[in-house]
Amino acid sequence: MADTLFITDNRTGKKIEIPIEHDTVRATDLRQLKVKDDDFGMMTYDPALMNTAAVKSRITFIDGDKGILRHRGYPIEQLAENSTSFLEVAYLVLFGELPNDKQRTDWRIKIRHHTIVHESIKKLMEAFRYDAHPMGMFISTIAALSTFYPEAKELNDPENRMTQICRLIAKVPTIAAFAYRHSKGAPYIYPDNELTYAGNFLNMMFRPSSKEYTINPVLERALTVLFILHIDHEQNCSTNVMRSVGSSHVDPYSAVAAAAAALWGPLHGGANEAVLHMLDEIGSVNKVPAFIKEVKEGKGKLMGFGHRVYKNYDPRAKVIKNLAYQVFNVTGKNPKLDIAIELERIALEDEYFVKRKLYPNVDFYSGLIYQAMGFPLDLFPVLFAIPRTAGWLAQWQEHVTDPEQKITRPRQIYLGYGERNWIPMDKRK
Ligand code: ACO
Repeated sequence: MADTLFITDNRTGKKIEIPIEHDTVRATDLRQLKVKDDDFGMMTYDPALMNTAAVKSRITFIDGDKGILRHRGYPIEQLAENSTSFLEVAYLVLFGELPNDKQRTDWRIKIRHHTIVHESIKKLMEAFRYDAHPMGMFISTIAALSTFYPEAKELNDPENRMTQICRLIAKVPTIAAFAYRHSKGAPYIYPDNELTYAGNFLNMMFRPSSKEYTINPVLERALTVLFILHIDHEQNCSTNVMRSVGSSHVDPYSAVAAAAAALWGPLHGGANEAVLHMLDEIGSVNKVPAFIKEVKEGKGKLMGFGHRVYKNYDPRAKVIKNLAYQVFNVTGKNPKLDIAIELERIALEDEYFVKRKLYPNVDFYSGLIYQAMGFPLDLFPVLFAIPRTAGWLAQWQEHVTDPEQKITRPRQIYLGYGERNWIPMDKRK
């Protein structure tokens, strides 16, 4: 028997049978349910889209109950451990397969070709105030790129689309590093195409203007792994924005700028910074029990804990925790690590957290590493946006080539006034 769902509409007694595909029913099938012939028909109401699949995707799989994250079928743990290059994983996420040797080399060359930004972009960034937030600079500059590449709106040309994808992946580290150098009042360092994706970014960030800079291989590797861990996370808030904005067929620069704006919010990409503020506030290990007690009394949240999808240990958090020790061997231990470990130990044993399935998420340890590596707190969302750009673009490409997709346009339940007549000014209350 085919998988179907029988529904009886108790308003009218009408019965319908609708198909179930992939454990899902099509919301538009419900439109057959009407009280009067000229009714619009039944809709679903789903604030925050908690139970609505709006796309079919082949990119990222998450099983939140089991703590599983896979890109194109490959577990995130294997990608983080085995892939030596962020661009290799970007290729996988974008094209669906791991590149062979030649494909990997060609891909690297393609990206390196685009790392530099137009001198006018540099001038544009110089116009920001000295204390401009780097994420604000990042978002605005990405949006401005659309004016440099007007051909980017020709979405039906696959080659043209790929050129814009390469440009964006290549240029986001440059723009991010320029934003940081601007806040320091330091001269910008241009991309060095001999370096890896992460190495080039570290060089543009931290190289003193007139001196050589040796990139520490442990830190370069750590940043590569952090970039891999953040590359994609299926239909999260910013990715949903990327797809929605992209569905209007605007150019991808404007869509990435919109997605980055969504990422900036403290409920999304801003939590790693909040974790560090929380650890500062706690101050020392012996104050952890008192802090946990306050959280349980509802006086605040344990930042970096809990997740809408993961009801198990976030697989990325496990990798990051191990990475933290490797980084601290080089940089010296971030003094906040002991507080974080004690928080985690108590929380994982405490009934409040166990019952609610609250585990450390990706942000719990990542901020400690970023800080130890010398990144300022306000750069954290930018560090998230750099690798996520590749994920956004993979999702965008899938969206604009999906024949089932159209411009995204949800419905509403209108609860406002019915029709009423215009009131002249002298009659208004
Ligand atoms: N500390 C203490 N209690 C928590 C926490 C937390 N971090 N997270 C959830 N809870 C509690 C809630 O108070 C609620 O308790 P109740 O049932 O007694 O009311 C219960 O756990 C369920 O929580 P919800 O808020 O319903 O979970 P939701 O899925 O809506 O929220 C979220 C997920 C936003 C991530 C939440 O866990 C949170 O705010 N965590 C802290 C912020 C954070 O680390 N965000 C980063 C997420 S990862 C990312 O975006 C990259």
